[in-house]
Amino acid sequence: MGKILVTGGCGYIGSHTILDLLSKGYTVISVDNFSNAEPATLDRIAAVAGVHIPNYDVDLCDYPRLKAVFEENPDISGVIHFAALKNVGESVEQPIRYYHNNLQGLLHLLQVMVEHQVPRLIFSSSCSVYGNAEHLPVTENTPLQEAESPYARTKQMGEQIISDVLHSHPSLNCIILRYFNPAGAHESALIGEAPFNKASNLVPVITETAIGKREQMVVFGNDYDTRDGTCVRDYIHIMDLADAHTRALRFLADQTPEGKIEYLNLGIGQGVSVLEAIEAFEKVSTQPLNYRIGPRRPGDVVAVYADYSKAARLLDWQPKRTIEDIMRSAWLWEQNRSKTS
Ligand code: WQD
Repeated sequence: MGKILVTGGCGYIGSHTILDLLSKGYTVISVDNFSNAEPATLDRIAAVAGVHIPNYDVDLCDYPRLKAVFEENPDISGVIHFAALKNVGESVEQPIRYYHNNLQGLLHLLQVMVEHQVPRLIFSSSCSVYGNAEHLPVTENTPLQEAESPYARTKQMGEQIISDVLHSHPSLNCIILRYFNPAGAHESALIGEAPFNKASNLVPVITETAIGKREQMVVFGNDYDTRDGTCVRDYIHIMDLADAHTRALRFLADQTPEGKIEYLNLGIGQGVSVLEAIEAFEKVSTQPLNYRIGPRRPGDVVAVYADYSKAARLLDWQPKRTIEDIMRSAWLWEQNRSKTS
């Protein structure tokens, strides 16, 4: 199976995917400069998996140091590329930083993979490439609308860049995974979402509010054209998402995807509104959440959820966990994390 390099391996999705890779017998190394991750994540991975994986503290925008990682590991057989800035709201305020980090990093990674003839790439993309889709659920053939944020546009451009590079480099194959909203934590409650910077995603904001790290949560708008006025998203449990990554790697190893590149939606096919997510948390935690309705957040899509049948067919994958499972695991992790930090 060779060695898998995971960029952003100390991040939320990266660390949970590494756990799934290790559980399936892969050898893994990580490249993470801790710009939005805690070094303690490596210890958490070791606590769950019983193995301390190597991490190279390298910024993908530093080409010579990235190249050195590949020279030191000539047995890299595949790359899963997570490392990117991903805060929708922040990208609206800091577009130059987002374009530079997300696109320069990708270009360097592609260049070094081509030079070292690494044949397989899994790219972390996002449902935000669909923008405000005209029809729901979205399939991989749904036309991409205007991106609602610079973050989303870096994912649209990233997909295009990969398509162009694969066209000129036949040795490379890629699966582009369009995540919906990853959330929840590993069932051990020893690892979960632990952003280095202040959390902005809904589920960690809910659990931080519930445990008292935040005074009150703000619901960003309840005047949208949805069933209860709040935005609708497709929340997918992080362990279902991680499972899909190792299945995607196996798919690339077993066969060259037709046309060298495949796009797959990773969601559970159900839309949940912000108020419904809060309700699910209150049910699971048996405690009320302190929140208020505030103004809309720039860059937010009104509603998006997935048709994931192509991933189910190609990867033989089925998401198993619900929004309640997400809230239960996220709440256990938050309680555990607060005890240990
Ligand atoms: C979800 C909903 C907010 C916080 C995410 C990732 C992004 C990409 C796409 C993978 C929205 C509302 C949130 C709060 C709120 N994922 N909200 N109060 O914006 O869908 O983007 O999915 O690539 O990386 O960030 O997720 O969790 O930020 O917001 O009302 O304090 O919750 O308005 O409707 P989003 P999110």
